[in-house]
Amino acid sequence: MVQWVDGPGTVSGMTHTVEELGIEIPGRAAAWELLTDHTTQPGLVGHARAVEAAMRWYAKRGGADEELWGCVGLLHDFDWEIHPTLEQHPADGAPMLREAGWPELVVRAIQAHAPHTGVEPESDLEKTLFACDELSGFVVAVARMRPEGFAGMTPKSVTKKLKTASFAAGVSREDVDRGCELLGLAKSEHIANVVEAITPIGDTLIGDVTGAR
Ligand SMILES: [Fe+2]
Ligand SMILES: [Fe+2]
Repeated sequence: MVQWVDGPGTVSGMTHTVEELGIEIPGRAAAWELLTDHTTQPGLVGHARAVEAAMRWYAKRGGADEELWGCVGLLHDFDWEIHPTLEQHPADGAPMLREAGWPELVVRAIQAHAPHTGVEPESDLEKTLFACDELSGFVVAVARMRPEGFAGMTPKSVTKKLKTASFAAGVSREDVDRGCELLGLAKSEHIANVVEAITPIGDTLIGDVTGAR
């Protein structure tokens, strides 16, 4: 069992299914459609799928709703291509999510992945999304550099790359650290989890990613 830090929606909150939460979600196919209706860059779709995989992994481990958590991962950057500034993303995506039938819990979680919105990650869902976003992007960048991709990737090698400021410089090391703190996990453990989560779809995220879903 994951040791989750205290806050709204802690251990018992994790076990809630969408039924128990009293919400309905449009589902993965609808999330995929919303994402791909607004996203043409394969790398960005791949990032969404990587974060989805990490979210599903943590949901499964913690007994949370895998579909809900996966959809939040898949959708978190759905508006980035059409809202490519920090003023717009993800704030301007929120009304679009509501319009598409996504409940407030999902809308809030997506706002909370972006520190500049001022929406603090509070629930386990929100904390996990925050923690998986930057790190998922980073491990995919590391995999692209390795001839063997994800196979055999160790937390130690990822940590070493994190210390190289020029490597994947767009990934905020501060946010990676904060994500680990939010989850109450050592960085090496969170890295190992995210690598394990993404490895099964790893080959579809590097190289020619066109058409992967
Ligand atoms: Fe984002
Ligand atoms: Fe992201």
